[in-house]
Amino acid sequence: MQYFTLSNGVKIPAVGSGTNSFAKTDGVFNGSTKEVISAIEAGYTFFDTAESYRNEEAVGDGIIESGVGRENIFVATKMATRSEKPLGRNDAVAAIERSLNKLKTDYIDLYLIHFPWEKRDEEKEVWEAFEEYYRKGVLKAIGVCNHMPDDLEFLIKNCEIKPMVNQVKCNPDEWNKAAVDFSQANGIIPIAWGPLKFAAEHRPPIEEIGRKYGKTWAQTILRYHFQRGVISIPKSHSFEHQKENLDIFDFELTPDEMRIIAG
Ligand SMILES: NC(=O)c1ccc[n+]([C@@H]2O[C@H](COP(=O)([O-])OP(=O)(O)OC[C@H]3O[C@@H](n4cnc5c(N)ncnc54)[C@H](OP(=O)(O)O)[C@@H]3O)[C@@H](O)[C@H]2O)c1
Repeated sequence: MQYFTLSNGVKIPAVGSGTNSFAKTDGVFNGSTKEVISAIEAGYTFFDTAESYRNEEAVGDGIIESGVGRENIFVATKMATRSEKPLGRNDAVAAIERSLNKLKTDYIDLYLIHFPWEKRDEEKEVWEAFEEYYRKGVLKAIGVCNHMPDDLEFLIKNCEIKPMVNQVKCNPDEWNKAAVDFSQANGIIPIAWGPLKFAAEHRPPIEEIGRKYGKTWAQTILRYHFQRGVISIPKSHSFEHQKENLDIFDFELTPDEMRIIAG
């Protein structure tokens, strides 16, 4: 595994496992830890979950059942911020406590705002609660998701601690280049969500590049993210795919190949 270093010095694996459909049958939580255990056996040490995925318990239980030790796994989760009612400090504190309970842990490696929202004063208050729990050591790193440059700019200008990551959709259907570039220019590490969920029509040139290295289109696009300084969190229910998606550290794309993939 390779790592990136966040602005506060915390090391984060360059590839993690997405989890949004783990532990579910027809979208309903089933408590199963099988996907998490399979991912750990495949070599994952980083899980990306969220309160809104309703599967934090399965991530926490899977880590415990695997026996690898909490300290050897990096856990990211997210506060659900799409809300009908106003959000403030107490909502953030309650969300952090709920996630700690469900994950059966006393700290979270990376805690994220799931979506920005229009009421900036509310987001500022929520972020200040993140800062408070970061200072207490309960949250080892804090960041955001789906933040465009103006959303990031607001937090950078108005808060004390800059987000350490920005998780955005990033694949050949939608690169979100402005958000990725702005994040990197401000020392915020981008994380690509949905890195493999893109239209099949974009695959052929990626497949052709991968063939040269004996790699699949999935490995080639994940390698592209890595070389671009972007973490990725592919999700798979198949042990073979989980393993395949980690096997990206033994080849290097040329600058021309990087340009072709960027489109
Ligand atoms: N912050 C946010 O707002 C946000 C939003 C969406 C998602 N996320 C996070 O990002 C994670 C990843 O996104 P995602 O789950 O939407 O999409 P994804 O990981 O890009 O794609 C998942 C799909 O790719 C397939 N797949 C995985 N590995 C493959 C391989 N090697 N070859 C061929 N197909 C492969 C999977 O099928 P198989 O199971 O059959 O392998 C699944 O259908 C989520 O799980 C979640 O943790 C965050």
